[in-house]
Amino acid sequence: MSRRPIVAGNWKMYKTTTEAVAFIDELAKLVGKDDDVAIYLAVPFTLIKPCSESAKGSSIVIGAQNMHDATEGAFTGEVAGSMLLDAGAKFVILGHSERRNIFKETNAFIHKKVQRALELKLHPILCIGETLEERNDEQTHSVLQEQLSECLKGASVDAINNNLTIAYEPVWAIGTGQVATPEMADDAHRFCRDWLRQNFNEDIAQNVRIIYGGSVNSSNCNGLFQKGDIDGALVGGASLQADKFYQIVESAKQRGSVV
Ligand code: PGA
Repeated sequence: MSRRPIVAGNWKMYKTTTEAVAFIDELAKLVGKDDDVAIYLAVPFTLIKPCSESAKGSSIVIGAQNMHDATEGAFTGEVAGSMLLDAGAKFVILGHSERRNIFKETNAFIHKKVQRALELKLHPILCIGETLEERNDEQTHSVLQEQLSECLKGASVDAINNNLTIAYEPVWAIGTGQVATPEMADDAHRFCRDWLRQNFNEDIAQNVRIIYGGSVNSSNCNGLFQKGDIDGALVGGASLQADKFYQIVESAKQRGSVV
């Protein structure tokens, strides 16, 4: 197994259908069928279907930014994993810090969503990361450990092998322009990989991709991608323009896969 880099865009609550389709058309021309890098785009629910259709024939993979863990039911305003698959999503971001902080999602709730996504083979990108206060208190490792153990509790080796990505996103770096240094990110990624080794096995530690998120752009991504444990990026602001986003993909391509 080798870890092919992933560059995942997180559009958050941006773009109309017209804007989204124009973006995909532009990106698809730049990307072609090149699949050295896995190119993921997490789009708003309303854009999953039109984006999946526009992305056909290219290597761009469309996914969602959240889901509910229930299969169906009286949950006004929520969307189930099976509905995401039905619309064309192949992956889902879970536990993003905006979901944790603004919408008060707990590790216990995120755990249920991860379980359901794994069961549906809807590839979860599980987001974890510390706040600035926690970093200053030297709690980074303990926060990551708690988030990993609560969100991945009971997950089977088979379910997560090749079907889980972890995104390390320090909360203080998201949308602030204050990117973690490659050394800080590398330390956190190594911690997560060691955790996977201790709690699952060596194969899982080698196969699960751990990507960095928080103010990644085309100028700072090279330094991050030079670290062996950083397998790509989760990109917010810099994923909204196809040419800028593609520059990050190009940089990940230089890095290549870790075997
Ligand atoms: P940012 O967002 O790149 O705008 O900091 C990253 C994220 O929220 O995943």
